[in-house]
Amino acid sequence: MSEIVIRPPLTPEASYPAAEKRTMYFIGVTTHKSSIMKVFPKWAEYLGLGDVVMQGMNFAWHDKPEHYRKAVEFIRNDPLSLGALVTTHKLDLLHACRDQFDRLDPLAELLGEASSISKDTDGALVAHAKDPITSGLALEAMLPERYWEKTGSEVLVLGAGGSSIALTWYILQKSHGKNRPSRIVVTNRSLPRLEEIERFHQRIGADLPVEYHHTPTPEATDQILRSMRPGSLVANATGLGKDAPGSPLSDAAIFPERAIVWDFNYRGELVFLDQARAQQSTRQLQVEDGWIYFIHGWTRVIAEVFHIEIPTSGPRFDEISQIAASVR
Ligand SMILES: NC(=O)c1ccc[n+]([C@@H]2O[C@H](COP(=O)([O-])OP(=O)(O)OC[C@H]3O[C@@H](n4cnc5c(N)ncnc54)[C@H](OP(=O)(O)O)[C@@H]3O)[C@@H](O)[C@H]2O)c1
Repeated sequence: MSEIVIRPPLTPEASYPAAEKRTMYFIGVTTHKSSIMKVFPKWAEYLGLGDVVMQGMNFAWHDKPEHYRKAVEFIRNDPLSLGALVTTHKLDLLHACRDQFDRLDPLAELLGEASSISKDTDGALVAHAKDPITSGLALEAMLPERYWEKTGSEVLVLGAGGSSIALTWYILQKSHGKNRPSRIVVTNRSLPRLEEIERFHQRIGADLPVEYHHTPTPEATDQILRSMRPGSLVANATGLGKDAPGSPLSDAAIFPERAIVWDFNYRGELVFLDQARAQQSTRQLQVEDGWIYFIHGWTRVIAEVFHIEIPTSGPRFDEISQIAASVR
């Protein structure tokens, strides 16, 4: 039985100590509170990773570029530091550190975000964007078969950050054929990210109706929510409820009937999910947190960092999920 040791997170003001064991980092905002700190030792044992460490690195929301550069430089040069999973800072980090990577995978290049940092066998530092794949895996796990084709429903994504770019990329893929929503709506509290996601959709040749709404207040977001059809997917990709308090919606918001309400996070106050649960039976909502997304997100990056195969479904994946659930 492996021992669960939760190490205090590193912060960019202090100097980073050289890793004494093979170490994977978790770059986020409140990494010490994440379930991965308890789950990782169990997974490491199951996956046969040996004596390895998970170390958090906490950064402020939209931190200084030099702080991201310092962390990437450290991982790049420290032999036993193997890589990292990046959350919340995916866009900001790659923007600040692009030249520090030897290679970007095609999705990191396309999306301008890095959710995985790893080293090739020759030591080259590589940035991957895993969210386009992992958000899709999580979405498929919660949707009935060919949901969009059967219902003609819509998608509302609250927030226009890295994970919204990733999810909308997945949903827009032409390879889904007729199984795509009839409309996608994206909201954001400030304009730059909204303009960025619109440019991104143009660049990838988005061929579904997509709307972009600037929603500086919860009331403005409530109004957009009212325009969504029954059965819509309503995703909270703002980080509100975990990275910062509150919800992008007010308590007066009314969800569409039979909506699938998904918070990308599974921990924190998750006020958005409380708002949905208050209407769950009256409006027949399916309420989902970010747990499955968490499992797919972490397993894809662990596979990359430690150069191992981890399946995305089947009995071995189910076992990995059960191990995580047992220490959640
Ligand atoms: N379960 C999982 O495994 C998993 C996987 C991926 C992501 N996540 C979580 O999902 C959240 C989002 O991740 P991310 O990487 O996309 O973060 P991000 O790049 O920081 O994006 C968040 C976006 O939400 C916007 N926003 C904040 N408050 C808002 C509001 N009240 N109304 C509308 N928009 C608002 C922000 O706007 P500004 O531009 O104004 O700051 C920003 O564009 C994070 O908390 C992350 O931990 C979870």
